[in-house]
Amino acid sequence: MAVIADRCPGIQVTLVDLNAARIAAWNDPNLSRLPVYEPGLADVVGRCRGRNLHFTTEVDGAIASADMVFLSVNTPTKTRGLGAGQASDLRWIEASARQVAAQATGHTIVVEKSTLPVRTAETIKEILGASQALGTEGSKSFSVLSNPEFLAEGTAITDLENPDRVLIGGEDPDAINALAEIYGHWVNPERILRTNLWSSELSKLTANAFLAQRISSINAIAALCEATGADVKEVARAIGADSRLGSKFLSAGPGFGGSCFRKDILNLVYLCRHYGLEEAAHYWEQVVDFNSWQQQRIARLVVRKLFGTVSGKRLAVLGFAFKADTNDTRESPAIGICHDLLEEGAHLAIHDPKAAPQQIATDLACPPSSPGQGLAELGSWDVATDVREAVEGADAVIVLTEWSQFRRLDWNSLASRMRRPAWLFDVRAITDAEAARAAGLKVWRVGEG
Ligand code: UDX
Repeated sequence: MAVIADRCPGIQVTLVDLNAARIAAWNDPNLSRLPVYEPGLADVVGRCRGRNLHFTTEVDGAIASADMVFLSVNTPTKTRGLGAGQASDLRWIEASARQVAAQATGHTIVVEKSTLPVRTAETIKEILGASQALGTEGSKSFSVLSNPEFLAEGTAITDLENPDRVLIGGEDPDAINALAEIYGHWVNPERILRTNLWSSELSKLTANAFLAQRISSINAIAALCEATGADVKEVARAIGADSRLGSKFLSAGPGFGGSCFRKDILNLVYLCRHYGLEEAAHYWEQVVDFNSWQQQRIARLVVRKLFGTVSGKRLAVLGFAFKADTNDTRESPAIGICHDLLEEGAHLAIHDPKAAPQQIATDLACPPSSPGQGLAELGSWDVATDVREAVEGADAVIVLTEWSQFRRLDWNSLASRMRRPAWLFDVRAITDAEAARAAGLKVWRVGEG
């Protein structure tokens, strides 16, 4: 929405949320304190806020005056009841649709921006239609569109400014044109794809499922490379040169994380099952199961290499966010890997340039050890403010996130601070392994045989 405001100065964009603290944070005069860290975002917000970008808790008023309403609430996986563990929880979508139905005036275009199961638009239309029928003749009407978002975190602003495609699904040509016109301020019309509602909803789930599947595929090959003496980077380069495959999204690592992939695939699995397509459901489920295996494999491997025990050992963990250039830790592979190492009694010194210590504590479901508690019987963890502090006296360094600063570490200086024999586990294959070996470290790299 900030990018829309930036590119369309003539459009007033109002972001509303019931959470007053969250809205206050978006209105913080200090732009470095915005609640989401995303390269370039603070600049965009700084340019537009107060001009044509507004953050407020006045939900009803904003709906009443809007020509277009984007439903952008979260749709997490249900934790209980029918479809628990797989289906999306649509309670916030339904509540938002009801609020729009109650407060809208005149003709309102309602855009599904949240990632939703196929045919959710049907539910939204029904809720809106009921209020339309109740209202005074001709006083309100609605058109529903699906406009899924394909941006990735860490590159959100550039992804939005130069999208591969913008997808608009719907039935009302006027509504589709109105939304296409907004994107048309900066997106080439050829890149604006128009589909029916259901294709648009399904395309979003499918794109994420294919991307996640690709990561599970390369991670499976990485394990085979390690066993056979091949190198996954060389294999990725060789297959990526095939224009049918393409070179992106072929980096082996600790498994995919983030708020979308797992949730969306499970959603797809649930839909397949719902329509009696058990084999299709099973096929996609494997992508998620394999991803969990990859995370467990990394933790087991670290323990095995460190003489079968990490109890009382200090391990430096570099990176906790699910990918570089974000402070987001949702579904981060680091959570499972750190959890398994804590179970084994390790003391983890975690350093991430952006992830908040409080968030790490929530994710690991235990507080950091108090100063002086040191190497306890049971596992413990602490935050290290920099890499040097993290590796001090450590038996191993484990690189879990591909932050660019981890590519250029001074291994001579770091190795001298560690307890020998010391290991580098490069789970992203981004460090200078030769330099680390030359500095006396034993090195394991994902996908390197
Ligand atoms: C994803 C989709 O890319 C985006 O289109 C959609 O809108 C939301 O979900 P995001 O989760 O922000 O975006 O990040 P992405 O770059 O896709 O990475 C997801 C995970 O895959 C990360 O944990 C990342 O480290 C991992 N990954 C990605 C790999 O392990 N290897 C790769 O080659 C690429």
